[in-house]
Amino acid sequence: MSFIEKLQWRAAVKKFDPTKKITATQLDSLLSAVQLAPSSYGLQSYKVIVVQDAKTKEKLRAVGYNQPQITDSAALFVFASLTTIDEAFGKKFIDLVAQTRSVERESLEGYEQVILGTLNSRTDEQKVAWSHKQAYIALGVLLSAAADLGVDAGPMEGFDQEKFDEVLGLKEKGLTTSVIAAVGFRADDDKYSQMIKVRRPKEELFIHI
Ligand SMILES: Cc1cc2nc3c(=O)[nH]c(=O)nc-3n(C[C@H](O)[C@H](O)[C@H](O)COP(=O)(O)O)c2cc1C
Repeated sequence: MSFIEKLQWRAAVKKFDPTKKITATQLDSLLSAVQLAPSSYGLQSYKVIVVQDAKTKEKLRAVGYNQPQITDSAALFVFASLTTIDEAFGKKFIDLVAQTRSVERESLEGYEQVILGTLNSRTDEQKVAWSHKQAYIALGVLLSAAADLGVDAGPMEGFDQEKFDEVLGLKEKGLTTSVIAAVGFRADDDKYSQMIKVRRPKEELFIHI
């Protein structure tokens, strides 16, 4: 299948087959894809909690509008924004750049100032909102990578954010849930994935200038 055909195949599956487990290799490929997702300045101001524990998934389903995908999928990816994105976080990122690229930290001063300038020009609320957007990009990469691997992934916004944070103990970790995705394999009788995809025509979606 071409990549476009794989995107045609992918669907926000509603009925997962709970007996089908994801392999360690498949899961690791998805983690690599999410790790490689781009983010503003490369800051990756979020974490991704991968829930495979059945009891935790049950608790999350109860605060996730009882969506069966939460328990029936093989793994639930919870994208969570950091709640403190301060100077220390920006500086630590520059440390990582210097270390990864084996360059003098001083040579990154200009880049550091731009990042710190951006962080300092925003309120905490604005930074978390910004961070949620970055998490959605990672979600998009996950969905595309899963399609490429022939793994199903269903994005979901239907959950109680505060209660999700509570179940996962995110507040104490300085995190808050952005968006989630159920990852696994569609049941043979999942009706949703058998339906024709509805998308706006290209003439309506794109404006060429
Ligand atoms: C950010 C986001 C949140 C979504 N939330 C839910 C959800 O809570 N429950 C659900 O069943 N589907 C959810 N969907 C799935 C969409 O309804 C679905 O992607 C859309 O109808 C297009 O269908 P397709 O993904 O199968 O092509 C969500 C999709 C996105 C991108």
